[in-house]
Amino acid sequence: MRKLAIAMAKGGVGKTTTAVNLAHGLAKNGKRVLLVDCDTQGQTSKFLGVEPEYGLYEFITGRDKNGTFIPKKDTIYQSRKNLWFLAGGLRLVELKNWLGEQQRDIRQTVLKNSLLPKNGTLDYLIFDCAPSWDVLSVNILMAVDEVLCPVALQGPSMEGLKTFFGYLLSAQKLNTDLQLKYILPTMFDKRTRQSFEIMHQLKKMFAKQICEPIHYNVRLSEAPTHGQTIFEYDARAVGAIDYKKLTRRVNSNGGL
Ligand SMILES: Nc1ncnc2c1ncn2[C@@H]1O[C@H](COP(=O)(O)OP(=O)(O)O)[C@@H](O)[C@H]1O
Ligand SMILES: [Mg+2]
Repeated sequence: MRKLAIAMAKGGVGKTTTAVNLAHGLAKNGKRVLLVDCDTQGQTSKFLGVEPEYGLYEFITGRDKNGTFIPKKDTIYQSRKNLWFLAGGLRLVELKNWLGEQQRDIRQTVLKNSLLPKNGTLDYLIFDCAPSWDVLSVNILMAVDEVLCPVALQGPSMEGLKTFFGYLLSAQKLNTDLQLKYILPTMFDKRTRQSFEIMHQLKKMFAKQICEPIHYNVRLSEAPTHGQTIFEYDARAVGAIDYKKLTRRVNSNGGL
């Protein structure tokens, strides 16, 4: 099973867009995927157009908000063929408190140890991360082997990348399997010089990890308002073609 975190220390760079469309791209290729929303904003549910009753909080703690026992299988929501989902949202604030109360030596590996699917039941575990650095983000970076980092080709994206590298380095001290596997340039706009400049810098710095960029594409920003992935909303859009290429790249394990 491949375990990937879609992470970057900055909001609005396309993490959720990438997590959802990559997860659906892989699922459409017959891979069995579990997508986990690790952000208190809970945007991933909206992007998928679903409203599961339970999610990651109940999965990890085994309880609902009233303290009633909830079996793990009831917390995982099947959102598409081959695509299962563990919802995030505000309950994750409580989850972070709960994690904070766990014993020091096991606190950082709770997620890793509770997400142990039976061999062969899943091909991919994909985490849609929040930009913040806290006990939950540490848990995610302990539970995965690969990181995909979306970098917007506009604005002060290099700063976010630097901050994120700090996080990654401290996580790699604890999880030696953790690799920065993919750098995904997003919001590529041919009309702006900045897009080309940042792209050029990224290519120089990450020759192996760099992926083909995701273009700025209005269809990608419209799809979530319909609760659809880009493959459902407009399979012929540039955004769909870009995410299909990314799916192929990740699936072929190319790059490294
Ligand atoms: N390539 C793109 N082209 C146009 N809009 C995009 C693109 N990628 C993401 N968006 C939009 O930008 C906003 C932020 O994207 P999102 O994936 O939620 O970022 P993050 O999860 O990093 O905060 C959303 O409204 C999304 O629909
Ligand atoms: Mg997000």
